Amino acid sequence: MLLNVCLIFYSFSAFAAEQDAMEESAMLRIEEAKTNANISMELAIEKRKRAQALAQNADLATYKATMLIRIAEAALAAESVDNAAAYFLD
Ligand SMILES: *[C@@H]1O[C@H](CO)[C@@H](O)[C@H](O)[C@H]1NC(C)=O
Repeated sequence: MLLNVCLIFYSFSAFAAEQDAMEESAMLRIEEAKTNANISMELAIEKRKRAQALAQNADLATYKATMLIRIAEAALAAESVDNAAAYFLD
C-alpha cells in the first residue's frame, strides 16, 4: 500500500516536472516569437520611414523639374517676344 502511494506520488512528481519543462519551453518559444515579431516590426517601420523619405525626395525632384521647365518656357517665350520686337523695330 505504501509502495503504491510512493509510486503514484513519484509518477505525479515526474508528470509535474515534465509539465513544468514543457511550459518553460513554450514560454521561451513565445518570447522568441515576440522578439522576432518585434524585430520584423522595427525593420518594417524603418523601411516605411525610408520609403517615405524617398517619396518626398521624388516629389521635391518632380517639383524642381516642373519649375525648371516653366522657367525655360518663360525664357523661350521672352526670347521670341524679343526676336519679334527686334524684327519689327529694325
Ligand atoms: C520592440 O522592443 C523595444 C524594446 O523592448 C520597444 O521599445 C519597442 O517599442 C518594440 N517595438 C515594437 C514595434 O513593438
